[in-house]
Amino acid sequence: MSKKPVTRRSFLAFSGGGVAALVVAACTPSSDPTTTTSLTSTTSADATTTTTFTGGPVDVEISLRSIRDTVEIRSGVDTDVWRYIAEVTEGDPGAVSVIEGSYLGPTFHFRKGQRVRIIFDNDIPDRSIVHWHGLDVPEDMDGHPRFAVPEGGRYVYEFTVENRAGTYWYHPHPHGRTGPQVYAGMAGLILITDDEEEALSLPSGEFDLPVVIQDRTFDGDQMVYLPNGMMDQMNGFLGEEILVNGSPDAAFGVAARSYRLRILNGSNSRIYKLAWDDSTPLVVLTTDGGLLESPVTRPYVTLGPAERVDLWVDFGTDSVGDSRKLISLPFIAPSSGGMMGGSSSLPLGTGFDVATFTVDRTADSTDTLPDSLSDPAFASLDEAINRNSARVVTLAMAAGGWTLNGRRFEMLDVASDEEVKFGTTEVWEFYNAGGGMGGGMGGGGGGGGLPHPMHMHGQQFQIIARSIEDSGRNAWDSVREGYVDDGWKDTVLVMPGERVRVLRRFTTFPGLFLYHCHNLEHEDMGMMRNFRINEA
Ligand code: C2O
Ligand code: CU
Ligand code: CU
Repeated sequence: MSKKPVTRRSFLAFSGGGVAALVVAACTPSSDPTTTTSLTSTTSADATTTTTFTGGPVDVEISLRSIRDTVEIRSGVDTDVWRYIAEVTEGDPGAVSVIEGSYLGPTFHFRKGQRVRIIFDNDIPDRSIVHWHGLDVPEDMDGHPRFAVPEGGRYVYEFTVENRAGTYWYHPHPHGRTGPQVYAGMAGLILITDDEEEALSLPSGEFDLPVVIQDRTFDGDQMVYLPNGMMDQMNGFLGEEILVNGSPDAAFGVAARSYRLRILNGSNSRIYKLAWDDSTPLVVLTTDGGLLESPVTRPYVTLGPAERVDLWVDFGTDSVGDSRKLISLPFIAPSSGGMMGGSSSLPLGTGFDVATFTVDRTADSTDTLPDSLSDPAFASLDEAINRNSARVVTLAMAAGGWTLNGRRFEMLDVASDEEVKFGTTEVWEFYNAGGGMGGGMGGGGGGGGLPHPMHMHGQQFQIIARSIEDSGRNAWDSVREGYVDDGWKDTVLVMPGERVRVLRRFTTFPGLFLYHCHNLEHEDMGMMRNFRINEA
Protein backbone atom coordinates (compact mmCIF):
# COMPACT_ATOMS: atom_id res chain seq x y z
CA MET A 1 0.00 0.00 0.00
CA SER A 2 1.24 3.41 -0.82
CA LYS A 3 2.32 5.72 1.93
CA LYS A 4 3.30 8.40 -0.49
CA PRO A 5 1.77 11.85 -0.51
CA VAL A 6 -0.20 12.80 -3.56
CA THR A 7 1.84 15.63 -4.91
CA ARG A 8 0.09 16.62 -8.01
CA ARG A 9 -2.40 14.77 -10.05
CA SER A 10 -4.75 11.93 -9.71
CA PHE A 11 -6.58 9.93 -12.28
CA LEU A 12 -8.79 6.97 -12.80
CA ALA A 13 -7.44 3.84 -14.31
CA PHE A 14 -8.63 0.42 -15.24
CA SER A 15 -7.02 -2.53 -13.62
CA GLY A 16 -7.74 -6.18 -13.19
CA GLY A 17 -11.38 -6.89 -13.44
CA GLY A 18 -12.67 -3.55 -12.37
CA VAL A 19 -12.08 0.12 -12.04
CA ALA A 20 -9.70 1.18 -9.30
CA ALA A 21 -8.70 4.65 -8.31
CA LEU A 22 -4.96 5.05 -8.58
CA VAL A 23 -2.98 8.03 -7.45
CA VAL A 24 0.48 8.77 -8.63
CA ALA A 25 3.02 10.68 -6.64
CA ALA A 26 5.81 11.14 -9.04
CA CYS A 27 7.41 14.44 -8.46
CA THR A 28 8.83 14.99 -5.02
CA PRO A 29 12.52 14.05 -4.93
CA SER A 30 12.02 11.44 -2.27
CA SER A 31 9.04 9.73 -3.82
CA ASP A 32 9.03 6.52 -5.77
CA PRO A 33 8.89 7.06 -9.47
CA THR A 34 5.56 5.44 -10.00
CA THR A 35 3.90 5.01 -6.68
CA THR A 36 0.29 4.07 -6.84
CA THR A 37 -2.03 2.45 -4.41
CA SER A 38 -1.55 -1.27 -4.62
CA LEU A 39 -4.28 -3.51 -5.81
CA THR A 40 -5.30 -6.46 -3.72
CA SER A 41 -2.34 -8.68 -3.09
CA THR A 42 -1.68 -11.80 -5.01
CA THR A 43 -3.36 -15.13 -4.57
CA SER A 44 -1.07 -17.80 -3.26
CA ALA A 45 0.19 -20.46 -5.60
CA ASP A 46 -2.10 -23.08 -6.96
CA ALA A 47 -1.85 -26.35 -5.10
CA THR A 48 -1.28 -28.18 -8.37
CA THR A 49 1.90 -26.26 -9.23
CA THR A 50 4.86 -28.61 -9.59
CA THR A 51 7.88 -27.60 -7.60
CA THR A 52 11.05 -27.89 -9.60
CA PHE A 53 13.38 -26.23 -7.09
CA THR A 54 16.16 -28.62 -6.02
CA GLY A 55 18.77 -26.53 -4.24
CA GLY A 56 21.32 -28.73 -6.00
CA PRO A 57 24.55 -27.74 -7.73
CA VAL A 58 24.35 -25.08 -10.44
CA ASP A 59 26.77 -23.56 -12.97
CA VAL A 60 25.89 -19.99 -12.10
CA GLU A 61 24.23 -18.48 -9.05
CA ILE A 62 23.14 -14.86 -9.13
CA SER A 63 21.73 -12.64 -6.44
CA LEU A 64 19.23 -10.26 -8.05
CA ARG A 65 17.60 -7.40 -6.17
CA SER A 66 14.97 -4.86 -7.11
CA ILE A 67 15.73 -1.57 -5.40
CA ARG A 68 14.75 2.08 -5.22
CA ASP A 69 17.57 4.16 -6.55
CA THR A 70 18.45 7.39 -8.30
CA VAL A 71 20.16 7.55 -11.67
CA GLU A 72 21.50 10.49 -13.63
CA ILE A 73 19.40 10.30 -16.79
CA ARG A 74 19.89 13.94 -17.73
CA SER A 75 23.26 15.33 -16.84
CA GLY A 76 23.56 16.80 -13.41
CA VAL A 77 20.17 15.71 -12.11
CA ASP A 78 19.09 12.61 -10.26
CA THR A 79 15.98 10.77 -11.33
CA ASP A 80 14.16 8.38 -9.03
CA VAL A 81 13.91 4.88 -10.43
CA TRP A 82 13.19 1.34 -9.44
CA ARG A 83 15.80 -0.96 -10.88
CA TYR A 84 17.50 -4.32 -10.70
CA ILE A 85 21.03 -4.91 -9.45
CA ALA A 86 22.81 -8.25 -9.46
CA GLU A 87 25.91 -10.05 -8.35
CA VAL A 88 27.31 -13.44 -9.30
CA THR A 89 27.63 -15.47 -6.13
CA GLU A 90 28.83 -18.67 -7.77
CA GLY A 91 30.37 -19.48 -11.16
CA ASP A 92 31.66 -17.23 -13.93
CA PRO A 93 31.65 -13.56 -12.85
CA GLY A 94 31.17 -12.73 -16.54
CA ALA A 95 27.59 -14.01 -16.28
CA VAL A 96 26.53 -10.49 -15.29
CA SER A 97 27.56 -7.21 -16.89
CA VAL A 98 26.25 -3.71 -16.38
CA ILE A 99 25.33 -0.99 -18.83
CA GLU A 100 27.22 1.92 -17.25
CA GLY A 101 25.09 4.79 -16.05
CA SER A 102 21.83 3.13 -17.07
CA TYR A 103 18.82 2.39 -14.91
CA LEU A 104 18.47 -0.85 -16.88
CA GLY A 105 19.12 -4.04 -14.99
CA PRO A 106 22.39 -5.88 -15.51
CA THR A 107 22.72 -8.03 -18.62
CA PHE A 108 22.85 -11.77 -17.98
CA HIS A 109 25.15 -13.86 -20.18
CA PHE A 110 24.05 -17.48 -20.25
CA ARG A 111 24.96 -20.52 -22.29
CA LYS A 112 22.52 -23.08 -23.54
CA GLY A 113 22.58 -26.10 -21.21
CA GLN A 114 23.71 -24.18 -18.13
CA ARG A 115 21.99 -24.72 -14.82
CA VAL A 116 21.23 -21.35 -13.27
CA ARG A 117 20.00 -20.27 -9.83
CA ILE A 118 18.76 -16.71 -9.34
CA ILE A 119 17.88 -15.52 -5.87
CA PHE A 120 15.49 -12.61 -6.22
CA ASP A 121 15.04 -10.20 -3.31
CA ASN A 122 12.30 -7.66 -3.69
CA ASP A 123 13.31 -4.39 -2.06
CA ILE A 124 10.87 -2.04 -3.75
CA PRO A 125 7.78 -0.91 -1.84
CA ASP A 126 5.46 -2.99 -4.01
CA ARG A 127 4.86 -6.67 -4.66
CA SER A 128 6.83 -8.09 -7.56
CA ILE A 129 8.09 -11.20 -9.33
CA VAL A 130 10.56 -11.63 -12.19
CA HIS A 131 9.72 -13.17 -15.55
CA TRP A 132 12.41 -14.37 -18.00
CA HIS A 133 10.80 -13.26 -21.23
CA GLY A 134 11.27 -15.79 -24.02
CA LEU A 135 12.87 -18.46 -21.84
CA ASP A 136 11.34 -21.89 -21.70
CA VAL A 137 11.27 -22.78 -18.00
CA PRO A 138 9.01 -24.80 -15.66
CA GLU A 139 5.81 -23.11 -14.46
CA ASP A 140 7.12 -22.33 -10.98
CA MET A 141 10.21 -20.61 -12.47
CA ASP A 142 8.34 -18.46 -14.98
CA GLY A 143 7.40 -15.48 -12.83
CA HIS A 144 3.63 -15.98 -12.98
CA PRO A 145 1.86 -13.27 -10.93
CA ARG A 146 0.61 -15.94 -8.50
CA PHE A 147 4.19 -16.09 -7.20
CA ALA A 148 4.57 -12.35 -6.57
CA VAL A 149 6.30 -11.54 -3.29
CA PRO A 150 5.81 -8.43 -1.12
CA GLU A 151 8.48 -5.89 -0.25
CA GLY A 152 11.17 -7.77 1.65
CA GLY A 153 10.13 -11.04 0.04
CA ARG A 154 12.37 -13.51 -1.79
CA TYR A 155 11.77 -15.93 -4.66
CA VAL A 156 14.41 -18.44 -5.65
CA TYR A 157 14.57 -19.52 -9.27
CA GLU A 158 16.42 -22.47 -10.62
CA PHE A 159 16.32 -23.64 -14.21
CA THR A 160 18.32 -25.02 -17.08
CA VAL A 161 18.86 -22.68 -20.01
CA GLU A 162 17.09 -24.46 -22.86
CA ASN A 163 16.90 -21.62 -25.35
CA ARG A 164 18.84 -21.06 -28.53
CA ALA A 165 21.47 -18.34 -28.91
CA GLY A 166 19.79 -14.95 -29.04
CA THR A 167 18.48 -11.94 -27.19
CA TYR A 168 15.93 -12.37 -24.41
CA TRP A 169 15.02 -10.17 -21.47
CA TYR A 170 13.60 -10.07 -17.97
CA HIS A 171 11.08 -7.81 -16.31
CA PRO A 172 8.53 -7.80 -13.44
CA HIS A 173 5.19 -9.59 -13.82
CA PRO A 174 2.95 -8.84 -10.79
CA HIS A 175 -0.64 -8.55 -11.88
CA GLY A 176 -1.80 -4.99 -12.42
CA ARG A 177 1.65 -3.57 -11.66
CA THR A 178 3.86 -4.67 -14.58
CA GLY A 179 3.42 -1.40 -16.52
CA PRO A 180 4.47 0.98 -13.72
CA GLN A 181 7.36 -1.25 -12.58
CA VAL A 182 8.88 -1.69 -16.04
CA TYR A 183 8.38 2.02 -16.65
CA ALA A 184 10.18 2.86 -13.41
CA GLY A 185 13.27 1.08 -14.77
CA MET A 186 12.89 -2.62 -14.05
CA ALA A 187 14.08 -4.54 -17.12
CA GLY A 188 17.29 -6.12 -18.33
CA LEU A 189 18.69 -8.22 -21.17
CA ILE A 190 19.48 -11.92 -21.20
CA LEU A 191 21.98 -12.89 -23.91
CA ILE A 192 22.25 -16.59 -24.61
CA THR A 193 24.99 -18.25 -26.58
CA ASP A 194 25.38 -21.81 -27.83
CA ASP A 195 27.76 -23.96 -29.90
CA GLU A 196 26.01 -23.06 -33.13
CA GLU A 197 26.53 -19.36 -32.55
CA GLU A 198 30.10 -19.77 -31.38
CA ALA A 199 31.01 -21.54 -34.60
CA LEU A 200 30.12 -18.35 -36.46
CA SER A 201 32.25 -15.32 -36.14
CA LEU A 202 29.74 -12.64 -35.29
CA PRO A 203 30.84 -9.31 -33.82
CA SER A 204 31.38 -9.81 -30.10
CA GLY A 205 32.62 -7.97 -27.02
CA GLU A 206 32.65 -4.21 -27.59
CA PHE A 207 31.24 -4.77 -31.10
CA ASP A 208 28.08 -6.38 -29.74
CA LEU A 209 25.92 -3.49 -28.49
CA PRO A 210 22.69 -3.51 -26.51
CA VAL A 211 20.10 -1.09 -27.92
CA VAL A 212 17.11 -1.13 -25.58
CA ILE A 213 14.52 1.35 -26.81
CA GLN A 214 12.01 2.88 -24.40
CA ASP A 215 9.90 6.02 -24.25
CA ARG A 216 9.51 8.13 -21.14
CA THR A 217 7.85 11.35 -20.13
CA PHE A 218 9.73 13.71 -17.84
CA ASP A 219 8.45 16.32 -15.50
CA GLY A 220 11.55 18.24 -14.53
CA ASP A 221 14.10 15.64 -13.53
CA GLN A 222 11.58 12.91 -12.82
CA MET A 223 10.10 10.25 -15.07
CA VAL A 224 6.36 10.33 -14.76
CA TYR A 225 3.95 7.53 -15.43
CA LEU A 226 0.61 9.19 -15.60
CA PRO A 227 -1.70 7.28 -17.82
CA ASN A 228 -3.93 10.27 -18.12
CA GLY A 229 -7.28 8.76 -17.44
CA MET A 230 -9.12 6.10 -19.29
CA MET A 231 -7.90 6.96 -22.77
CA ASP A 232 -4.23 6.40 -21.98
CA GLN A 233 -5.08 3.14 -20.26
CA MET A 234 -7.06 1.99 -23.26
CA ASN A 235 -4.32 3.11 -25.64
CA GLY A 236 -1.29 2.26 -23.60
CA PHE A 237 1.04 4.84 -22.14
CA LEU A 238 3.20 6.67 -24.68
CA GLY A 239 6.24 8.51 -23.36
CA GLU A 240 7.27 11.74 -24.99
CA GLU A 241 11.01 11.16 -25.22
CA ILE A 242 12.96 8.25 -26.65
CA LEU A 243 15.63 6.67 -24.44
CA VAL A 244 18.16 4.08 -25.57
CA ASN A 245 19.75 2.03 -22.78
CA GLY A 246 18.24 4.58 -20.42
CA SER A 247 19.74 7.67 -22.09
CA PRO A 248 18.10 10.43 -24.09
CA ASP A 249 19.72 11.56 -27.37
CA ALA A 250 21.60 8.28 -27.59
CA ALA A 251 24.92 8.54 -29.40
CA PHE A 252 27.29 5.63 -29.96
CA GLY A 253 30.92 6.05 -31.01
CA VAL A 254 31.82 3.09 -33.18
CA ALA A 255 34.84 1.67 -35.00
CA ALA A 256 34.85 1.39 -38.81
CA ARG A 257 33.84 -2.29 -38.84
CA SER A 258 30.84 -4.58 -38.48
CA TYR A 259 28.61 -4.59 -35.38
CA ARG A 260 25.82 -6.62 -33.88
CA LEU A 261 23.05 -4.46 -32.39
CA ARG A 262 20.78 -6.20 -29.87
CA ILE A 263 17.54 -4.31 -30.30
CA LEU A 264 14.80 -4.71 -27.72
CA ASN A 265 11.58 -2.74 -27.76
CA GLY A 266 11.35 -2.36 -23.99
CA SER A 267 8.56 0.22 -24.17
CA ASN A 268 5.23 -0.17 -22.44
CA SER A 269 3.14 0.38 -25.55
CA ARG A 270 5.03 2.16 -28.34
CA ILE A 271 5.64 0.47 -31.69
CA TYR A 272 8.77 1.36 -33.69
CA LYS A 273 9.31 1.29 -37.44
CA LEU A 274 13.09 1.16 -37.40
CA ALA A 275 15.22 2.18 -40.36
CA TRP A 276 18.58 3.73 -41.22
CA ASP A 277 18.30 7.39 -42.14
CA ASP A 278 20.26 6.83 -45.37
CA SER A 279 17.71 4.16 -46.44
CA THR A 280 20.23 1.31 -46.31
CA PRO A 281 18.18 -1.85 -45.73
CA LEU A 282 18.30 -3.41 -42.28
CA VAL A 283 20.09 -6.75 -42.03
CA VAL A 284 18.46 -8.98 -39.42
CA LEU A 285 20.29 -11.83 -37.68
CA THR A 286 17.80 -12.91 -35.02
CA THR A 287 14.18 -12.69 -33.98
CA ASP A 288 12.75 -13.26 -30.47
CA GLY A 289 13.77 -16.92 -30.37
CA GLY A 290 17.34 -16.55 -31.61
CA LEU A 291 19.37 -16.86 -34.78
CA LEU A 292 17.58 -17.05 -38.12
CA GLU A 293 18.48 -19.71 -40.63
CA SER A 294 20.24 -16.99 -42.63
CA PRO A 295 20.32 -13.20 -42.49
CA VAL A 296 17.32 -11.38 -44.01
CA THR A 297 16.99 -7.77 -45.12
CA ARG A 298 14.06 -5.40 -44.71
CA PRO A 299 13.55 -1.78 -45.76
CA TYR A 300 12.55 -1.22 -42.14
CA VAL A 301 11.72 -3.41 -39.14
CA THR A 302 8.43 -3.10 -37.28
CA LEU A 303 8.97 -3.84 -33.61
CA GLY A 304 6.10 -4.08 -31.14
CA PRO A 305 6.60 -4.01 -27.36
CA ALA A 306 8.79 -6.93 -26.15
CA GLU A 307 9.91 -7.93 -29.65
CA ARG A 308 13.63 -8.21 -30.39
CA VAL A 309 15.86 -8.27 -33.44
CA ASP A 310 19.63 -8.38 -33.63
CA LEU A 311 20.80 -6.25 -36.54
CA TRP A 312 24.02 -6.55 -38.48
CA VAL A 313 25.54 -3.23 -39.46
CA ASP A 314 28.83 -2.61 -41.22
CA PHE A 315 30.46 0.76 -40.62
CA GLY A 316 33.52 -0.53 -42.54
CA THR A 317 32.88 1.62 -45.59
CA ASP A 318 32.35 4.76 -43.50
CA SER A 319 35.12 7.23 -42.73
CA VAL A 320 36.03 8.49 -39.33
CA GLY A 321 33.59 11.31 -38.58
CA ASP A 322 30.69 9.83 -40.56
CA SER A 323 27.41 9.21 -38.76
CA ARG A 324 24.30 7.20 -39.38
CA LYS A 325 21.06 7.49 -37.56
CA LEU A 326 18.72 4.76 -36.51
CA ILE A 327 15.29 6.32 -36.86
CA SER A 328 11.68 5.36 -36.45
CA LEU A 329 9.64 6.12 -39.57
CA PRO A 330 6.12 7.47 -39.46
CA PHE A 331 3.30 5.01 -39.99
CA ILE A 332 -0.47 5.07 -39.96
CA ALA A 333 -1.48 4.57 -36.37
CA PRO A 334 -4.79 2.81 -36.08
CA SER A 335 -7.37 4.70 -34.13
CA SER A 336 -10.96 4.36 -33.28
CA GLY A 337 -12.86 7.14 -34.93
CA GLY A 338 -10.71 9.77 -33.26
CA MET A 339 -11.91 8.64 -29.86
CA MET A 340 -8.60 7.14 -28.80
CA GLY A 341 -6.31 10.10 -29.12
CA GLY A 342 -4.54 9.81 -25.81
CA SER A 343 -2.54 12.63 -24.33
CA SER A 344 1.04 12.06 -25.51
CA SER A 345 2.78 14.86 -27.36
CA LEU A 346 4.53 12.10 -29.34
CA PRO A 347 1.54 10.17 -30.70
CA LEU A 348 1.83 6.64 -32.03
CA GLY A 349 2.92 6.67 -35.66
CA THR A 350 5.04 9.82 -35.38
CA GLY A 351 8.58 9.60 -36.79
CA PHE A 352 11.68 10.48 -34.73
CA ASP A 353 15.38 9.74 -34.24
CA VAL A 354 16.34 6.81 -32.06
CA ALA A 355 20.16 6.81 -31.92
CA THR A 356 23.17 8.19 -33.75
CA PHE A 357 26.20 6.05 -34.58
CA THR A 358 29.34 8.04 -35.33
CA VAL A 359 32.51 6.37 -36.56
CA ASP A 360 35.20 7.71 -34.23
CA ARG A 361 38.04 5.29 -34.94
CA THR A 362 39.48 2.94 -37.50
CA ALA A 363 39.38 -0.79 -36.86
CA ASP A 364 42.08 -3.39 -37.16
CA SER A 365 39.69 -6.28 -37.59
CA THR A 366 36.19 -6.93 -38.74
CA ASP A 367 33.76 -9.82 -39.11
CA THR A 368 32.02 -10.72 -42.35
CA LEU A 369 28.35 -11.52 -42.55
CA PRO A 370 27.88 -15.30 -42.67
CA ASP A 371 25.62 -16.71 -45.43
CA SER A 372 23.93 -19.04 -43.05
CA LEU A 373 23.46 -18.72 -39.31
CA SER A 374 21.71 -21.68 -37.74
CA ASP A 375 19.40 -24.62 -38.07
CA PRO A 376 16.17 -23.38 -36.46
CA ALA A 377 14.73 -26.93 -36.44
CA PHE A 378 11.26 -25.64 -37.13
CA ALA A 379 8.15 -27.67 -36.43
CA SER A 380 6.10 -28.89 -39.35
CA LEU A 381 2.44 -28.12 -39.90
CA ASP A 382 1.87 -31.87 -40.21
CA GLU A 383 2.61 -32.21 -36.51
CA ALA A 384 -0.33 -30.00 -35.58
CA ILE A 385 -3.36 -31.77 -34.12
CA ASN A 386 -5.63 -28.98 -35.41
CA ARG A 387 -4.09 -27.93 -38.69
CA ASN A 388 -7.47 -27.15 -40.26
CA SER A 389 -9.17 -25.76 -37.18
CA ALA A 390 -6.95 -23.24 -35.46
CA ARG A 391 -7.61 -22.35 -31.84
CA VAL A 392 -8.80 -18.76 -32.28
CA VAL A 393 -8.09 -16.02 -29.74
CA THR A 394 -10.14 -12.91 -30.49
CA LEU A 395 -8.72 -9.63 -29.24
CA ALA A 396 -11.48 -7.13 -28.60
CA MET A 397 -12.93 -4.48 -26.37
CA ALA A 398 -15.68 -5.43 -23.98
CA ALA A 399 -17.30 -3.35 -21.30
CA GLY A 400 -14.51 -1.85 -19.29
CA GLY A 401 -11.45 -3.07 -21.12
CA TRP A 402 -9.58 -5.22 -23.57
CA THR A 403 -10.26 -8.93 -23.57
CA LEU A 404 -9.08 -12.26 -24.97
CA ASN A 405 -12.09 -14.22 -26.22
CA GLY A 406 -14.23 -11.91 -24.12
CA ARG A 407 -12.42 -12.71 -20.89
CA ARG A 408 -10.04 -10.92 -18.60
CA PHE A 409 -7.31 -12.21 -16.30
CA GLU A 410 -8.21 -14.12 -13.17
CA MET A 411 -5.25 -15.40 -11.20
CA LEU A 412 -5.84 -19.14 -11.61
CA ASP A 413 -8.64 -19.20 -14.12
CA VAL A 414 -8.37 -21.49 -17.17
CA ALA A 415 -11.34 -21.83 -19.52
CA SER A 416 -11.99 -25.08 -21.35
CA ASP A 417 -10.69 -23.58 -24.60
CA GLU A 418 -7.44 -22.76 -22.78
CA GLU A 419 -6.57 -26.37 -21.97
CA VAL A 420 -3.79 -27.88 -24.08
CA LYS A 421 -2.44 -31.43 -24.15
CA PHE A 422 1.19 -31.91 -23.22
CA GLY A 423 3.21 -33.36 -26.08
CA THR A 424 1.13 -31.81 -28.86
CA THR A 425 1.66 -29.16 -31.52
CA GLU A 426 -1.14 -26.71 -32.31
CA VAL A 427 -2.11 -23.88 -34.61
CA TRP A 428 -3.34 -20.78 -32.77
CA GLU A 429 -4.83 -17.77 -34.47
CA PHE A 430 -4.77 -14.30 -32.94
CA TYR A 431 -7.58 -12.26 -34.46
CA ASN A 432 -7.65 -8.54 -33.76
CA ALA A 433 -11.33 -7.75 -34.10
CA GLY A 434 -10.74 -4.05 -33.62
CA GLY A 435 -13.12 -2.24 -31.38
CA GLY A 436 -12.45 0.74 -29.23
CA MET A 437 -14.19 3.39 -27.26
CA GLY A 438 -15.75 4.94 -30.28
CA GLY A 439 -16.81 3.84 -33.71
CA GLY A 440 -15.00 0.53 -33.56
CA MET A 441 -16.85 -0.77 -30.57
CA GLY A 442 -18.80 -3.85 -31.30
CA GLY A 443 -18.28 -3.26 -34.98
CA GLY A 444 -15.59 -5.87 -35.39
CA GLY A 445 -13.34 -5.53 -38.37
CA GLY A 446 -10.37 -3.27 -38.50
CA GLY A 447 -12.34 -0.05 -38.57
CA GLY A 448 -11.21 0.78 -35.10
CA GLY A 449 -9.05 -0.64 -32.46
CA LEU A 450 -5.41 -0.80 -31.63
CA PRO A 451 -2.46 -3.03 -32.37
CA HIS A 452 -1.94 -5.78 -29.81
CA PRO A 453 1.52 -7.38 -29.44
CA MET A 454 0.51 -10.91 -28.40
CA HIS A 455 2.94 -12.89 -26.28
CA MET A 456 2.95 -16.53 -25.17
CA HIS A 457 5.01 -17.85 -22.30
CA GLY A 458 6.96 -21.07 -22.68
CA GLN A 459 8.11 -22.41 -26.02
CA GLN A 460 8.65 -20.14 -29.00
CA PHE A 461 6.31 -20.31 -31.99
CA GLN A 462 6.48 -19.82 -35.75
CA ILE A 463 4.31 -17.37 -37.64
CA ILE A 464 2.74 -19.33 -40.48
CA ALA A 465 0.15 -16.97 -41.96
CA ARG A 466 -1.21 -13.46 -41.77
CA SER A 467 -4.23 -11.86 -43.37
CA ILE A 468 -5.89 -8.48 -43.13
CA GLU A 469 -9.45 -7.24 -43.42
CA ASP A 470 -10.02 -4.36 -45.83
CA SER A 471 -10.90 -1.90 -43.11
CA GLY A 472 -7.49 -2.35 -41.51
CA ARG A 473 -5.45 -2.43 -44.70
CA ASN A 474 -4.10 1.14 -44.77
CA ALA A 475 -2.52 0.97 -41.34
CA TRP A 476 -1.29 -2.57 -42.01
CA ASP A 477 0.30 -1.58 -45.33
CA SER A 478 2.29 1.08 -43.50
CA VAL A 479 4.05 -1.45 -41.25
CA ARG A 480 3.85 -4.93 -42.79
CA GLU A 481 7.07 -4.90 -44.81
CA GLY A 482 8.85 -4.62 -41.49
CA TYR A 483 7.54 -7.89 -40.06
CA VAL A 484 10.27 -10.47 -39.59
CA ASP A 485 8.37 -13.75 -39.53
CA ASP A 486 11.33 -15.88 -40.58
CA GLY A 487 12.41 -17.10 -37.16
CA TRP A 488 11.18 -18.30 -33.78
CA LYS A 489 8.97 -15.77 -32.02
CA ASP A 490 7.41 -15.29 -28.59
CA THR A 491 5.61 -12.02 -29.34
CA VAL A 492 3.78 -11.03 -32.49
CA LEU A 493 2.23 -7.72 -33.43
CA VAL A 494 -1.40 -8.10 -34.47
CA MET A 495 -2.79 -5.01 -36.19
CA PRO A 496 -6.51 -4.15 -36.16
CA GLY A 497 -8.32 -6.42 -38.59
CA GLU A 498 -5.35 -8.77 -38.79
CA ARG A 499 -5.33 -12.52 -38.25
CA VAL A 500 -2.00 -14.12 -37.40
CA ARG A 501 -1.63 -17.89 -37.33
CA VAL A 502 1.14 -19.39 -35.28
CA LEU A 503 2.40 -22.95 -34.94
CA ARG A 504 3.56 -23.96 -31.49
CA ARG A 505 4.70 -27.06 -29.65
CA PHE A 506 3.66 -27.80 -26.07
CA THR A 507 6.31 -30.41 -25.48
CA THR A 508 8.72 -29.22 -22.78
CA PHE A 509 6.96 -28.37 -19.49
CA PRO A 510 3.37 -29.04 -18.43
CA GLY A 511 1.63 -26.55 -16.18
CA LEU A 512 -0.07 -23.18 -15.96
CA PHE A 513 1.37 -20.44 -18.19
CA LEU A 514 0.34 -17.02 -19.48
CA TYR A 515 -0.53 -15.54 -22.81
CA HIS A 516 -1.27 -11.84 -23.05
CA CYS A 517 -1.02 -8.58 -24.83
CA HIS A 518 2.42 -7.05 -24.18
CA ASN A 519 1.06 -3.52 -24.33
CA LEU A 520 1.70 -3.28 -20.58
CA GLU A 521 -1.29 -1.07 -19.88
CA HIS A 522 -3.50 -3.59 -21.67
CA GLU A 523 -1.86 -6.43 -19.76
CA ASP A 524 -2.36 -4.66 -16.43
CA MET A 525 -6.02 -4.06 -17.33
CA GLY A 526 -6.43 -7.79 -17.66
CA MET A 527 -5.75 -8.49 -21.36
CA MET A 528 -4.05 -11.63 -20.16
CA ARG A 529 -5.14 -15.22 -19.56
CA ASN A 530 -3.73 -18.52 -18.37
CA PHE A 531 -3.49 -21.60 -20.51
CA ARG A 532 -2.77 -24.98 -18.99
CA ILE A 533 -0.65 -27.71 -20.55
CA ASN A 534 -2.08 -30.93 -19.15
CA GLU A 535 -0.18 -34.17 -18.94
CA ALA A 536 -2.13 -37.06 -20.41
CU1 C2O B 1 7.39 -10.12 -21.26
CU2 C2O B 1 4.33 -12.27 -19.73
O1 C2O B 1 5.83 -11.10 -20.45
CU1 CU C 1 7.12 -13.78 -21.39
CU1 CU D 1 -3.28 -4.90 -26.38
